[in-house]
Amino acid sequence: MTKLKRMAVLAGTAFCAVAPGQVHAQAAGQWANPTHVYTKICGNCHEIGVGPRLKGRKLEVDFIQQTVRRGLKAMPAFRVTDVDDPMLVKLAEFLSTSERASK
Ligand code: HEC
Repeated sequence: MTKLKRMAVLAGTAFCAVAPGQVHAQAAGQWANPTHVYTKICGNCHEIGVGPRLKGRKLEVDFIQQTVRRGLKAMPAFRVTDVDDPMLVKLAEFLSTSERASK
């Protein structure tokens, strides 16, 4: 093996060793609270009229969870690596009980 090739292999190994760790760290502690998830993900569509308004409609917690996991027509599905189950429950409860947004 040439010196150059060996360096390339080493560089590749280092990359593989680091990348999954970063992904995991991001998935595990990524969301501070349901409002954070709503602002960073849902709000990109649901606060700008791409998706229907969610707040203040007393939508069922189960319905919200299923919609997020399965997707709905133009809305993509979100996986546990996007929003984990405990946070999805909190998010659904937050939306279900939230007051109507001011705008
Ligand atoms: C890429 C844009 C987009 C994102 C991001 C998005 N949605 Fe949606 N969502 C939509 C669209 C569009 C619809 C309407 C689908 C239809 O009925 O045609 C929808 C529908 C819904 C519905 C059904 C509402 C109803 O009145 O039937 C719920 C509940 C919902 N979204 C929750 C969420 C939650 C919670 C998040 C964040 C985790 C989220 N959505 C993120 C686009 C999005």
